Amino acid sequence: MPNAIEMLREDHNKVKELFEEFEHAEEEQAKEQIVENTVRELEVHAALEEEIFYPAAEEQVDEKESIDEAREEHHVVKLLIGELKKMSAEDERYDAKYKVLSESVKHHIEEEESELFPQLEGKLDAEELGAQMETRKQELQRQPHKRSGARGAKSKNRTRRRKGRQSAAKKARRKATGVRR
Ligand SMILES: [Fe+2]
Ligand SMILES: [Fe+2]
Repeated sequence: MPNAIEMLREDHNKVKELFEEFEHAEEEQAKEQIVENTVRELEVHAALEEEIFYPAAEEQVDEKESIDEAREEHHVVKLLIGELKKMSAEDERYDAKYKVLSESVKHHIEEEESELFPQLEGKLDAEELGAQMETRKQELQRQPHKRSGARGAKSKNRTRRRKGRQSAAKKARRKATGVRR
């Protein structure tokens, strides 16, 4: 049986690995793939916490402020994700946007792991909750990844940018990766 807190910790580790991977990525395509994976992980994780874990935690902790704060942090992360989805790796501030996202998420993870989880250990029926979360997780993962709007905006931006500045290096790279203009 999955343990809810362990499941969440595993998700945290997975997303931290993606942040690390991004630091070493150089190709635009590789970066975009990492961003896509990160967004997918974060969206599923946030839904599990908001729908199942936080409500259960709220019944157990004395100070609900920490969970209100957690929900607000999720909100900020979602705003950043929304912005990132409209960007492409060609954008000047793409890396910076991802960096800020990763820093906010790391801060949030740190608080959950060092403050929230320890308060709940032993109080929650972590196995029962874990089973519920596992079922929901599978449902969420089966849902097609929503990227509506982002694609359209992305390709429009790309066309505009391409007309503006097209360096020889970029052309060569496009050729090498098989992207047609
Ligand atoms: Fe969270
Ligand atoms: Fe979390």
